[in-house]
Amino acid sequence: MQAMLPPGALPGDELRLQRIRRLEDEILACQRCPLAQTRTRAVPGEGNLNAVVMFVGEGPGFDEDRQGRPFVGRSGQFLTATLAQFGIERRAVYITNVVKCRPPQNRDPLPTELEACSGYLTRQIELINPRIIVTLGRFSMRRWFPEGAITQIHGRVRNIGRGRIALAMFHPAAALRNPTWQSAFVQDMAKLPALIERAERANAAAARGEALPAGAPHPGDADYVA
Ligand code: URA
Repeated sequence: MQAMLPPGALPGDELRLQRIRRLEDEILACQRCPLAQTRTRAVPGEGNLNAVVMFVGEGPGFDEDRQGRPFVGRSGQFLTATLAQFGIERRAVYITNVVKCRPPQNRDPLPTELEACSGYLTRQIELINPRIIVTLGRFSMRRWFPEGAITQIHGRVRNIGRGRIALAMFHPAAALRNPTWQSAFVQDMAKLPALIERAERANAAAARGEALPAGAPHPGDADYVA
């Protein structure tokens, strides 16, 4: 499955869809690091082209590597169910990972692999242009919250500039292993509906050419303002 256009898509969306499809094709053929040799399929990501929220996990696991889709195994089912608990449809969001190919035996991605894949995520963010990025686990957290342990940082919301905020969350697989982290995962997800509502109001105001509502990060804001 690839990025999709939602009903009521706007005129410029077709071009953006073509660009994201080209990027997905590039990822599917990628040979930038040794994970290309051991993967079954690369997993670019999937979801709504106009998503307000982008989830960024670590990297494909066994099921994702087989199916070519992100978060379809046990941790993905937990993520999807927790989204539904808060009235958020999986198909309304965009889901991807910091590395697009499965590290063997689900080991942690290496710094060189993270570096080789980093530009793909940058381009996905530019094309989807989400207002909210939810980091799932410490590897995606470090991109926007480089300063501490996930046990301290999870639940934090940060202005990351260009009209975006990031929300740090535990990885759903970690949440499934530890009941305390599972409760934290659900509590942190509980913040999302209000953030989405604010982001949608900001998008609507921007589309009307109005000032953004109070508290919405402005596209001109500097990065990493806590
Ligand atoms: N874990 C991840 O980090 N990403 C997936 O897509 C699946 C499991």
